[in-house]
Amino acid sequence: MPTVHRIVFTPSGLEAQAVDGASVLEVAREARVDLDSVCGGRGVCGRCQITPSFGDFSKWALRSEPHHLSEVGTTEQDYQGRRFVPEGWRLGCQAKVHGPLVVDVPAESQLHAPIIRKEISLEGLALDPVSSLRVVSVRATQVKSVGAQEAINEACQREWRFVPETFDAEVLKEVTRFVGDSDETVTLHLRQMDGSTTVHSVRKGVHVDNLGVAIDLGSTTVAAHLMELSSGEVLASSGLMNPQIRLGEDLMSRVSYVMMNPDGGKELTGLAREAVASLINTLLADTERSAEDLTEVVLVGNPVMHHSFLGFDVVPLGQMPFDLATDRSVVVSAPSLGLPGPHASVYLPPCIAGHVGADAAAAVLAEAPHKSSKRQLLVDVGTNAEIVFGDENQLYAASSPTGPAFEGAQITHGQRAIPGAIERVRINKDTFEPEIKIIGSELWSSDSGFSELLKKPGVTGICGSGIIEAVGELFLSGLMTAEGVILDTRDQTDRVISEGRTFSYVLHRPDGSDDQDGRSIVISQTDIRAIQLAKAALRAGIDLLLEHAQCKAPDEIRLAGAFGAHIDPVYAMVLGLIPDCPLDDVSAVGNAAGSGAARLLLSGHERRAIEELVKGIEKIETATEERFQALFVDAMSFPHATADYPNLQNIVQVPARPLTSNPASSRRKRRSNREGT
Ligand code: FES
Repeated sequence: MPTVHRIVFTPSGLEAQAVDGASVLEVAREARVDLDSVCGGRGVCGRCQITPSFGDFSKWALRSEPHHLSEVGTTEQDYQGRRFVPEGWRLGCQAKVHGPLVVDVPAESQLHAPIIRKEISLEGLALDPVSSLRVVSVRATQVKSVGAQEAINEACQREWRFVPETFDAEVLKEVTRFVGDSDETVTLHLRQMDGSTTVHSVRKGVHVDNLGVAIDLGSTTVAAHLMELSSGEVLASSGLMNPQIRLGEDLMSRVSYVMMNPDGGKELTGLAREAVASLINTLLADTERSAEDLTEVVLVGNPVMHHSFLGFDVVPLGQMPFDLATDRSVVVSAPSLGLPGPHASVYLPPCIAGHVGADAAAAVLAEAPHKSSKRQLLVDVGTNAEIVFGDENQLYAASSPTGPAFEGAQITHGQRAIPGAIERVRINKDTFEPEIKIIGSELWSSDSGFSELLKKPGVTGICGSGIIEAVGELFLSGLMTAEGVILDTRDQTDRVISEGRTFSYVLHRPDGSDDQDGRSIVISQTDIRAIQLAKAALRAGIDLLLEHAQCKAPDEIRLAGAFGAHIDPVYAMVLGLIPDCPLDDVSAVGNAAGSGAARLLLSGHERRAIEELVKGIEKIETATEERFQALFVDAMSFPHATADYPNLQNIVQVPARPLTSNPASSRRKRRSNREGT
């Protein structure tokens, strides 16, 4: 009769009876304790780390003592894996049980541990990657007698107690090639698909890095995270501009390019794939990792990005009825797309509709309105705004062609958000003098020291958040009407100048004096119009979804993307970009699409969830909705022609709605108001 010892595992509280001399990993497996392992107990992966606890544990009526665990042996001493082993921690596969023990399995060693991370939102996610690695010893005699498949099955059963359902044909060839006259240790790359396990690839020797890349292919920027799939750790993040921009600033101009150029589609596809490949290579190089260790890539993007990346025709996405080539998820091999990773698979979740992409679906996954009783408005503003509204009962989705104005394009002195760009603006309501803040400095223009910034980097233009604040301040100060007309107030301020039949506001003069050489940064009437059209398109899309949901206002608003991260919610409401809402319930959620992509990278469960979720979303097509035009017209006014904004009025003094849009009349009204005070 072998001696057995009682083992309690924390934090799970699971108990096991361990045969004297068994490893902690073996006991944990027997008791179904979540303790990770890739190398199969060979002491090289470092995934099985545990921390023994010693002392009297009255709760379990158990005394755990140091000599109840074997001493550190040579394999543990020689361990040189990537995972650092802290003082007092042990490799569970090497530590043998010789008495009753309490053993803690730290979160780092739990395969399904919930992940808590700030830079990308993985809240509530349990690790469940589609790809995993298993190291096994394949016996030469078996390969010879029963063939490679049976030999692998036997090894999996012997070492891991499972048998894979299917094999990639190449795997069997490779194993036959690897295993000669002597047994061979190989690493199996397994993929879970539709409830079964496939041996997807095989490599000679022990390999424990299981890497994945989550990519958000945006029309302006491409962002990517390199992650370790077995821990959920973000190893590196990087981004670059989407080189497709050279074929067209916004989506429709890229579709037009394809329509007008016989090889335009191929060019669009080539540029997207090159950008993604280069980003993956950068991430691997930065972390000194190998493309051989890459097993999964997840890519999300709007329908034009999705289709162009896959090499599908994008032309149907530019015209009614905006048909998708597929409304299902897609899995393809990385090499077939020209991407690094000879064994990697690329997963693209389904697009919601021909105008609302897989990026919006990924954002929904990350922000989870479908799990909330609160009616959430989720807005991702790029050159195309993707809008989702709803709650646990029903979700609605639409997109609006906002164009690039919010990114600083189509604006006289607009520029991307780089150092030197004006990002904050205030206008004094009495003197009409502006105060500005530029990216790269905490100083306002009224602070001493700001003049130093004028030398380097200088004030180079105005970015999206800056133009929104400038327009908002022009309205709040009374220099601009609710209809978006800059008034002729030259008799009250020299900041307003005439430009033909319209007026502009001078936001910055390089030397502080009158500037005639065009280096001043101005907000022109044309700029206001560009912002007005963009904001009306966005707001009309939002209002259309609210109407479909028969809802007057959202309970909470989440602004996604770089735009959401930089825009001040107060000014978003002043402009009427978003409906009135308590300020505390408006939040910037960062790259929600990227967070969703990371979730899909780390969890097969999330992949199944998004595929189901997309089927249930009601798609609203703004281009064919009769109401859109009327809503658009109402949304042209600041903040809005008909909607109320009680929450906004608690924060700022919103000018009363003028009775007329005639600038001269408004000016008279304003003057008489000022004279009366
Ligand atoms: S299981 Fe790999 S080091 Fe212990």
